[in-house]
Amino acid sequence: MKVLIVGGGGREHAIAWALAKSPKVTQLFCAPGNGGIASVAQCVPIKATDVEGMVAWARDNAMDFVVVAPDDPLALGMVDAMEAAGIPAFGPRADAAVIEASKIFSKNLMAKYHIPTAKYRTFTNMEQALAYVQAEGAPIVVKADGLALGKGVVVAQSVAEAQDAVRAMMSDQKFGAAGTRLVIEECMTGPEVTVLAFCDGEHLVPMPSSQDHKRAFDGNQGPNTGGMGAISPSPNYTPEVAKRCMEEIFLPTVAALKAEGRPFQGVIYFGLMLTPDGPKVVEYNARFGDPECQAVLSLLESDLMDILLACRSGTLDQVDIRWRDQAACCLVLASGGYPGSYQTGYPISGLEEAGKSAVVFHAGTRADGQGGVVTSGGRVLGVTALGADLNAAIDGAYAAAKHISFTDMHYRTDIGRV
Ligand code: AMP
Ligand code: GLY
Repeated sequence: MKVLIVGGGGREHAIAWALAKSPKVTQLFCAPGNGGIASVAQCVPIKATDVEGMVAWARDNAMDFVVVAPDDPLALGMVDAMEAAGIPAFGPRADAAVIEASKIFSKNLMAKYHIPTAKYRTFTNMEQALAYVQAEGAPIVVKADGLALGKGVVVAQSVAEAQDAVRAMMSDQKFGAAGTRLVIEECMTGPEVTVLAFCDGEHLVPMPSSQDHKRAFDGNQGPNTGGMGAISPSPNYTPEVAKRCMEEIFLPTVAALKAEGRPFQGVIYFGLMLTPDGPKVVEYNARFGDPECQAVLSLLESDLMDILLACRSGTLDQVDIRWRDQAACCLVLASGGYPGSYQTGYPISGLEEAGKSAVVFHAGTRADGQGGVVTSGGRVLGVTALGADLNAAIDGAYAAAKHISFTDMHYRTDIGRV
């Protein structure tokens, strides 16, 4: 099969790496791809959000299957557009991807189907939102409704901070249209766990649990990022918690989307908080997480292509999905300054040596045209190692990363330890 992956980050490199191992995949393409993906797939210079351009290219080049990985093209209806052009595609249609694209939609869905989540109210009027914050007190959480690159959430420790966030989103339009509607919700406490699950509209198969590290600096300090590292499985996700999540959250969510006439086919990302009152949903995403994907897919033993095809054909219950009985750690090496401004174009050294004991997924890199790779983004690489247990995986990732260097390289030293 000729397969196209849409996207160009570390997550897409991990998906490409896993699909390249499938005997069913004869030719692999990635648009736009990056400097590392180029070693397993042919990169095509089309922006991930260019729905028309992507469909035209996939049609003209006779793709048999398209995997849409990032949130924006899913929300824009790229899967719908592919299917309309007769090209089978993996990922939810826009009407199901809305569980990520609109926090108001997902909160209302959870309320209607009694899926545990933080108590909330939604607002389109700024004065009412400010008054609600005043009445509820802090800590309190303010969220822009739409996609805001993971930055539309403020966990406010004071009423003033929460009200500033409301004003920034609603009157200063900090997030454009994404912030004209808000969710304000109760602040939950407890460890956070991610569970990604394959879904075919009706059946759901959870992958091993994982844990992201969103803050830029050690000790969970500093600004929020796209994710500075991930481990899998999460030590907090015990079999007992897993059973509750399956019964109280995962199955009801899939059933709810089906009942609403929006069957979800693709990967659902359950962002969970293990609160003193039990597991609750922090957020849904409509795709693999990045960098959780890099850690989790490293543990997959089965053929990913078989699973993706089953998600589309509604036959996920008939696939035997196997995972290595190991742990994984993905350590992100970032550009100095990220998630603020940073320089790019720095040569990267040590990739070959690091690749002897770990898999180095590329996120923000590009080929320099002379056989080397240079930095081209905030998150540059995801050094991913397996181990018999979490400690071994974490040690492995740090040991491999020691070989890599580029100007102003920054990484956390406590991934998996906080
Ligand atoms: P989200 O984009 O909704 O996942 O929010 C980003 C981060 O904000 C989450 O990973 C949590 O750490 C935090 N957060 C979001 N909602 C809440 C909440 N209701 N209570 C406490 N922390 C939250
Ligand atoms: N790692 C968080 C996300 O992909 O949204």
